[in-house]
Amino acid sequence: MPQDPSPSETAGIPPAFANAYADEARADAYAGLEFPGTYYLAFRDVPAILAAHVTGTAALDFGCGAGRSTRFLRGLGFDVVGVDIADEMLRRARRSDPQGEYLRAADDDLGTLGSRRFDLVFSAFTFDNVPTRAKKVTLFRALGALLRPAGRIVNLVSSPDIYLHEWASFSTKDFPENRRAEAGDVVRIVMLDVPDRRPVEDVLWPDAAYRDVYVQAGLDIVDTHRPLGRPTDPHRWVSETTVAPWSIYVLRPARASGG
Ligand SMILES: C[S@@+](CC[C@H](N)C(=O)[O-])C[C@H]1O[C@@H](n2cnc3c(N)ncnc32)[C@H](O)[C@@H]1O
Repeated sequence: MPQDPSPSETAGIPPAFANAYADEARADAYAGLEFPGTYYLAFRDVPAILAAHVTGTAALDFGCGAGRSTRFLRGLGFDVVGVDIADEMLRRARRSDPQGEYLRAADDDLGTLGSRRFDLVFSAFTFDNVPTRAKKVTLFRALGALLRPAGRIVNLVSSPDIYLHEWASFSTKDFPENRRAEAGDVVRIVMLDVPDRRPVEDVLWPDAAYRDVYVQAGLDIVDTHRPLGRPTDPHRWVSETTVAPWSIYVLRPARASGG
């Protein structure tokens, strides 16, 4: 069972950690973003990862935002529904994709999906904004329960290194305090591809902390991937060829022991 967060799980997190995307200006910026620079690297290898691990086409895009990742999945042939907690983002998703299906989820309640089950639950950058260990465990348990028998969760998140370096699409040089951050602390990063240069506040969650959450949520890691930039990519990389800005986890429900 998910446990209440201990003090160490909430250390560093403001009492009312706000979802940075429940904001009209940020939603506007995100709605026009698509896949510039470092974002290209986040999605570059996703088609091959999905082809290797996912059978079937029923997909949920958890934390769909303005619909960029949802449209990406549809372009790969998935029949996809997007869910998000931010009305500001959902409005823009529906505006750019009137035929798409976009649903509002309550904070940690996916009841809006009813009895629907999925071959793929995809989540791109959503967990960068989910504040506590307890909430992450609750959400991953709920997402695991939405999978069909051979279903997979693909969780794409920022690696801790993204908050320490300069990138084609991000700057962190104004936030030296990121270096002292530990799991659960708020870290700041500026997006360079959009006019809105207010720092985005994320919650640092290193690999070991994700692994702990997956165990608590009853999920096994099938594969992990940390994409590095290549000279052949159509971008001028900054740190991307030597440090991976993103982590991609492929997950499945844990096998019962002895089974
Ligand atoms: C950085 S945006 C990414 C959007 C989209 N996946 C993309 O790649 O363009 C993260 C999104 O996660 C959403 N989010 C954060 N916490 C959530 C939760 N508990 N349930 C559903 N969505 C959530 C935010 O509202 C935001 O739209």
